[in-house]
Formats: sequence, C-alpha cells, structure tokens
Amino acid sequence: MSRRENPIAIIDSGVGGLTVVKELQDLLPKENIIYFGDSKNVPYGSKSQEEIICLTKRMLDFLVVKNVKLVGIGCNTISSVLSFLEPQYDLKLIGAIDPYIVHIAKLPIDKVGLIATPFTVKTNYYNKSLAKLNPNIKIIGEGCPHLATIIDQGNFTKEDIAKETKIPMNNIKEKGAQDTVILACTHYPIIMDYLEELYPATTFINPAHYQALAIRDYLLEQNLLNGSTIDGKIIVYTTGNRKNYRWFLNKLGIKNVESINKVE
Ligand code: DGL
Repeated sequence: MSRRENPIAIIDSGVGGLTVVKELQDLLPKENIIYFGDSKNVPYGSKSQEEIICLTKRMLDFLVVKNVKLVGIGCNTISSVLSFLEPQYDLKLIGAIDPYIVHIAKLPIDKVGLIATPFTVKTNYYNKSLAKLNPNIKIIGEGCPHLATIIDQGNFTKEDIAKETKIPMNNIKEKGAQDTVILACTHYPIIMDYLEELYPATTFINPAHYQALAIRDYLLEQNLLNGSTIDGKIIVYTTGNRKNYRWFLNKLGIKNVESINKVE
C-alpha cells in the first residue's frame, strides 16, 4: 500500500470530531479515515492542561502505529494546547482552530460571539490567534460547562440544550455579539437544529469545513491525496459506547463505516 492510501486520523474527547469526519468525507470521499473518540474521559473541557495533554498522548500513541498520514485534531479544547504536543510527535497534526481563524480574519465584522468548553474560553486562544492576523475583530467567548457531555451521552432534548445555553447566549447578547456565534466545540454542530430553533436571530458557524479544507491543502501540497477510484472506509475506535457511536454516525450521515471498535 502506498503512503497515499494510508488513513487520515481524526481524534476528539468523544463524538464531536465526527462533525469533522462528515466534512472530510464530503470533501475527500476517497480518503480512508480512522476516528478515535475518548468518550470514557469526556469532558476534556473541564480538565487541567496536564490531563488534556496526557489523555491526548494516549490517543496519538495508539494512532502512530496505525501508519496514519496525518492527524486532524477534531477538538477545539485539544487544539488550544497543540503547541505542547507538536514537538513530541513526528506526525503532522492539524488543529481545529487556526484554519478557521484565517477565514474569520478576512470578514468585515468587528465582533463575533463564540461558545465553547470552559477550557477553550479560558485559554483565549481564538482571540490571541486572531489578534496576530486582524486585531480589529474581537471574539466574545462564553463557556458551556456541561454541553459537550450532555451531547456525548446521546439522549438529550431541546429543553436540555436550552438550559445549558441560556446563560452563555444571554451573556453574548449583552455584549452585543449575538448576530453570529462560532460553535467552537466540535460537539455543538450536532445540535445545530436545536440551536437554530432556540435562537432564530443568530447565525451559528460550524468551523469544521475550514479544517477539512486545511487537511486537503496539506495533502495536496505533500502529494498525499488518495488517488483511489473507490470510496474510502471509516474505522472508529472508542473508549465509550459503540451503540452511541452508531447512532451519531447515522445522524450525521457518515457512510462506509467498516467497524466500530471498543478500546479499553
Ligand atoms: N469536542 C471538544 C471540543 O471541540 C471537547 C468536548 C469536551 O470534551 O469537553 O472542544
């Protein structure tokens, strides 16, 4: 097998990175994808930096021996500490945040809202990266402490989502940034339909498409795009519940799932 046929890996603390897999499969249907979702340890966004790095290293070590050609970090929380992981791996790591920042820096706006895990908001990574490209745009970030966990568990209602998002969305409104809100946790686009019903005056942005484009650009540049004529397969590994993953894969319309495997 040539290196071009090697899989792309996507990782997350749970099912959230499947929203990146969906974008990637739509953009690059010939690519084989390995997904790792560490649902047993969700939420990463309420943990310390040391814990997040340690748990992520366990996923990366698992993937290194699977000959993946790159790892897409399908998690904003991990992406905000990527600079601590990059020097430790001889592996291309593409984060969830920077590709979108490049895009947002070009928009004719001065303020934009953002909801994310408490960790992502605390790092202020979005504002710091944006300031380097366009200091005239300010991101108003608010943390949603339990939202990723509720989504990851699978049996949530619109009322649960309303309860978890009400205070952060009100805070964003008070600061005048409610028109456009970035979903800066990969779990959140899964509940896009509920968010749009609950906050009809707001446009919610799913940045996953920009990460998929960054992955494509890297593969093109390195001459590593899979030239196969048949569609790629998805192999899922999780420390969580395999049935839950089946449900989310179906909900997101992810095709060609070869297997869902439990990792202890
Ligand atoms: N999906 C993750 C993110 O994008 C994190 C959720 C969590 O484990 O807290 O930030």
